[in-house]
Amino acid sequence: MHAPLLVPSLLAGDHANLAASARIVAETGLPWLHVDIMDGHFVPNLSFGPETLGALRRAGLKLYFDTHLMLSEPQKYIEAFARAGANLISIHIEPDFDHATTLTRIRQLGCECGIVLNPATPAAAVIPHLAQVDLVLVMTVQPGFGGQPFRHDMLAKLTELNQARQQRGLNFRLEVDGGIDLEAAAACRAAGADTFVAGTSFFRASDKTAFAAEIARM
Ligand code: DX5
Ligand code: ZN
Repeated sequence: MHAPLLVPSLLAGDHANLAASARIVAETGLPWLHVDIMDGHFVPNLSFGPETLGALRRAGLKLYFDTHLMLSEPQKYIEAFARAGANLISIHIEPDFDHATTLTRIRQLGCECGIVLNPATPAAAVIPHLAQVDLVLVMTVQPGFGGQPFRHDMLAKLTELNQARQQRGLNFRLEVDGGIDLEAAAACRAAGADTFVAGTSFFRASDKTAFAAEIARM
């Protein structure tokens, strides 16, 4: 069982000063930063690219970049993200491409790998890949935008994936993303999640250290 980990999402940071937002995360003592990559096709929005990760590295940031690719054709971009400084690269199960080969390629590039499910996608869709990944990300909102309400109906999927993890003796992280505040995080923790992406709630928290400490206690 992994200790609970709070992972702030850069999407909710200051887009005119992303390095400053990432520094707030590091100064709060948190090791990971969630970076959302959107293509305006798999999701109806655009965000960052490999250049953003590279620029953050050049600005001296040493955080572990948890890179969430919301792309229809992620296989075309993993090399660019690995080169730019990603530590973990997650790909969605929904688009049609060779997931197993892409996960293998992510590892060959020296990164950890994850698989992501949209709210409408059942746990069964990722079962064949569980032994191959370091992280399974359960979206708790429809991806594309920050600031949406947490979907309680995703808790059953977390329970199912947590059971699958235990039954198979696997050790992947179980991450949640979307609408995560302290209350939602506690519910997800009870269902087996250990990795909590928080955009709006983290950057709006007046006492970020206290917020991180609450998650660490869960
Ligand atoms: C949504 C992104 C999330 C987003 C979460 O498409 O994948 O990572 O930043 O933002 P909040 O925490 O505000 O829901
Ligand atoms: Zn995300």
